[in-house]
Order: sequence, then structure tokens, then C-alpha cells
Amino acid sequence: MCGIVGYIGPKRALPIVIDGLKRLEYRGYDSIGVLAYDQEKKEIYLEKQPGRVQEFIKTAQLDKKGGLAIGHTRWATHGLVTRENSHPHGDCQKKIFVVHNGIIENFQELKDALLKKGHVFVSQTDTEVVPHLIEERQKQGLPYREAIMQTLKDVRGSFALLIFNKEEPDLLVGTRFSSPLILGTNDQEFIFASDPTPIGLVTKNVLYLNDGDVAFVSEKGYELKSFLSEKVEAKRGVIDFTAGEADKGNFPDFMLKEIFEEPLALENTLRGRLLINEGKAKLGGLEPLEPRLREVNRVILVACGTASYAALAAEYFFEEYAEIPTEVDLGSEFRYRKPIIDNQTLFVAISQSGETADTLAAIKEAKTKGALTLGIVNVVGSTIARQVGAGIYSHAGPELAVASTKAFTTQIADLVLLMLFLARERKMSLVAGQEIMNELRKLPEKMRSVLLQADKIKALAEKYSVYKNFFYLGRKYGFPMALEGSLKLKECAYIHSEAYPSGEMKHGPIAIVDEDFPSIVLAPQDSVYEKVVSNIQEIKARKGKVIAVTTAGNQDLEKLVDDVIYIPQTLELLTPLLAIVPLHLFAYYLAKKLGRDVDRPRNLAKSVTVE
Ligand code: F6R
Repeated sequence: MCGIVGYIGPKRALPIVIDGLKRLEYRGYDSIGVLAYDQEKKEIYLEKQPGRVQEFIKTAQLDKKGGLAIGHTRWATHGLVTRENSHPHGDCQKKIFVVHNGIIENFQELKDALLKKGHVFVSQTDTEVVPHLIEERQKQGLPYREAIMQTLKDVRGSFALLIFNKEEPDLLVGTRFSSPLILGTNDQEFIFASDPTPIGLVTKNVLYLNDGDVAFVSEKGYELKSFLSEKVEAKRGVIDFTAGEADKGNFPDFMLKEIFEEPLALENTLRGRLLINEGKAKLGGLEPLEPRLREVNRVILVACGTASYAALAAEYFFEEYAEIPTEVDLGSEFRYRKPIIDNQTLFVAISQSGETADTLAAIKEAKTKGALTLGIVNVVGSTIARQVGAGIYSHAGPELAVASTKAFTTQIADLVLLMLFLARERKMSLVAGQEIMNELRKLPEKMRSVLLQADKIKALAEKYSVYKNFFYLGRKYGFPMALEGSLKLKECAYIHSEAYPSGEMKHGPIAIVDEDFPSIVLAPQDSVYEKVVSNIQEIKARKGKVIAVTTAGNQDLEKLVDDVIYIPQTLELLTPLLAIVPLHLFAYYLAKKLGRDVDRPRNLAKSVTVE
């Protein structure tokens, strides 16, 4: 949450930073702010305001000269959305400025102490203590760099910070602890950013800073130190996409583009991983772990939000095919339970961003207890990808809409691959493995055929946009898809919806059903189809409207329900990959009909780096 970007180099820095902020805006979009320094005139240009980048650039003076700039796009944690609370924040003398992503947990006690020493604060943010602490340490006689190091020891919490000092205008300092920060460099130019998307504006070569690293960067080069002032090295990497990929192309919104990319993302995640002859998945990162994976007798899948629904679908097929007891937990709950873990437990963290604080905290807990930890992660080089011992990259490509869509379908596919990897080492036959793989290969085309119905789904979404409440219902593999469809509708359209296993309706929720409370029911022709049809009957008997998602060729529901969406026939365990596509489209079109900002829904941010 919150995006930060900073540039130092021979080019004009401000336009690069603004471009970078456009790419980071999905991380927070309450307010935006920039600082640029004109080395010739020795002048600071500081501009910040509530609102989006697009509005900001109408008033900002983008022609400002200077090869150094920092910028911030905010998701408010401390203090209202006001100009004063927008970043960058400065010290009393307005010489030292910072942009920050994360939370300084002990800010109040630090602020109280600074207030007693006469510091004047202008915002309600936690961040503002940082420039004042550095200023205070300098007042006490510490040189600038040491003042920063001391400040980093004083603060507690999570942070990625960029620090600028007018007295040291050739230096940009970046540091991180439990919040992401990457440094890109082509040796002449340096760019810091919260994720790789802005880095691609300058270079593909990156340094993944570790927790506790402090990077002192000037046009001449960089120096990396730990908080203890020891020299450290960072892992080098090459980012795998260009800045151009972050464009909407011909689509009006990233969300729609990303839904339409679901088949391609699926192809990319399957590429090179299907060993059809052996009925096995080729997962290079897991091969060294094969002996240990053979010993695994329990699987725990941990994730948040949409990613946790991919995990719920996997719980069914891990138990059904790999025959390993499997449970799913939310990152935010996992470490507050007393999870029973030993070294035969396989812990799999699933995350698009690879930065979700709750999931990260769960990984730390699982590691402490001796579990074998793996990750299913989309963003290459992200913190989770580096924290887990090994894993599977999703290859969904950059996902910029706040609501996760194509990452979700790749997560399910990766979990199927992981299941095959484990199951073939156990009881699954070659034929059974091959059957699943052969069908997996056909799925991208089948998904494309669902997308061909986009106009029909749009018309349905518009027809149902008058309703204020929805149920999403499904059994077995349909249930996690109901949860996912419901979440998408809530977050994108701000419409109240609830998801239930359809069999649970009669235990209470059905009391709310009437003609104004439609249900979207996942009813593919699978092993629980008839039970789901009975649940549809129960809703219809109470005058509830029903949209059913069922298998192509099944005409039976036409007579029973109000509207039907058809998806191609596939193996039961792979149905979620097809059934979710119309629900993603439905939420998108309904949100558009209501005039919502689908890519940036209110109150949200994409990368949830606070607990
Ligand atoms: C919903 C959505 C969120 C994320 C959740 C986890 O559309 O995107 O629920 O799935 O915040 O994020 P990651 O996968 O980045 O860990």
C-alpha cells in the first residue's frame, strides 16, 4: 500500500517519477506528491494534493529541471486524505524530505518526544516523524548518513523510505524493512520503486534490497549498507517485462484487459510444465526438494482474499487426487492460531503481489515451526518469492487492476500442477495424470470461448444492476468460485453480496430470499449437480431470481431459472477455471454500469503491505 518512486540520473527526473507513479497508482490512490530538485538553481519543487495522478499532472509543473526526484501515491493509514497528510513529508527546516510506504508503529511515542524538543508537525501521519528524527540526530551532532542510520534504529514497524536532503542534493537514500523497495540501475541512472513496473522505464536490471538494507545512491554509483552500517550485497535480477506491458491497449480498463488475458496467462503458466508422457508436472524449482516432498503428510495453503479462494479450490483436489490432508488458512488468522506444524508439513503461500504483509507473517511463523515452505507468486523477485525456499511463478504478467483476475486463474492452474507433482509421487496413476494434463492443455481455448460471450454477460449485468443484494452459491468446486464472484462484485461495484455453499442456504440465509435478492448459482454438470439443482428449486420456490452457470448442452435449467450462462464441459476439478470467467465479467460490467472506477475501487489498494 502506497507506491514510492525515486530517480537520480542525467535525465529530467520529474517526468520519469510521474510516469512511475502512474504505474504504481494501483497501490494507493488517495493522494499524490512529488519533490524534484533543480541542481543548477539549488531549488526544491514540492507539489502534493489529494486525488489521482491524472488530475495532478494538469496542475503540476512537469517541465521542472533537475536530475533528482521522489514521488508518492498514498493509501491513507494515519490521517485523513488531505494535502497536509500527503507525502513527501519534511522536517522543521524543510530540508529533509521523505516518502514512505508502510507504518511506523511507534510514531506516537517518537512524536511526543520530538514535540517536547520543539519540533513542529504539520500532518497526522506516522511518516512525518522520520525527517524530524533525522533532523534531531543531526542537531545532536551526527553526520547526515549516521543520523539516518540512528533513525532507522529508532523506528519500529514496516517501511520503505526514500530520503532526500537539500544539504546533500546529490544523494538519494532508499531503505526498506518489511515493505518492498527495488533499485534499478543501468550504471548511469538509478531508479527506486515499490515494484518493478516503474523500473522498466529506465532499465531491466534490478537489485532486490533486503530487509534492513540502506542504499546511498548518487549519479556516480551506489553503496549498500545494513542498519548496522556494514557493507552488504543485494541479489541482482532482470525484470521480465517492459514498461509498455503496463498499458491498457485497446481496453477501457485494466480489469477488462486482464480478464481477457486469462487464457494467455494460463498458457504462459502451463508452458513447459506439462510432461504428458509421464503424466507429471515439471516444476524446476521443486525438483531439488523431491525427497522431502515425498515425506509430506499434510498441506497448509495460506493466502488472503482472492488468492485464498484459489487455495480453497485446491483443498478439494489435493485431498481428492493427491490424498494428502489439506487445509486452508487466511494469512491474517494463521499466526494468531496455534497451527500444528512439523517438518512433514508442506506450507504453501499463494500471492499475486508477493508483498502481502499477512501472508508474509504466516510464512515466518511456518518457517519457525519447521514446515517446508513454498510460494505460488506472480511478481518475480517479490518479498514472498524470496522468503519461501522454493516455489512456482504464476507467469500471469503484470496485474494492475486492483481486483485480481488473471492472477487468480493462474494460481488455480499452478495448484493443479503442484497437486500433480505430489500425486504422481503417491498413488495417482499415469493415466489419471495424463487425463488431467491433456484437459489442462485445452483450457485456454475453452476460456476463450467463454470470453466470446462477453456481450451477453454485459447485457445480463446491466439487467441485474438494479438489485442491491446478491447471493453467490455453489457446492464443492463451485463454492470457492461463489466466494470469488461475490468478492469481485463487492469490491468493484460496491454491491452487497454474500457467498454460501448452496447446501447451507436452508440453514438460515434462505430467509432473506425474495424477488429482490437474486442468486448467482454455479451449477456445472459435475458430481454435485443434482444437489445444486435442488437448492435452485428451493430458491425459486421463494420467488428468488436465479442466474445459473452451467455446462454447455445442458438445456434443463432454461425452464427453471431466469438466466443461464454456459461454459464448456471439462473435468470437474478444472471447472473453476472456466466458471469464474463469466463471474469476473459480470462484476466488471455491473460495476461499469454503475459508473464505478473499476481499476481503482474506493478504499482499496492492490498490494496490502500493512497488517
Ligand atoms: C481481490 C484481491 C485481493 C487480493 C489479496 C491478496 O480482487 O485482489 O483480495 O487477492 O489482497 O493479494 P496477493 O495475492 O497480492 O497476496
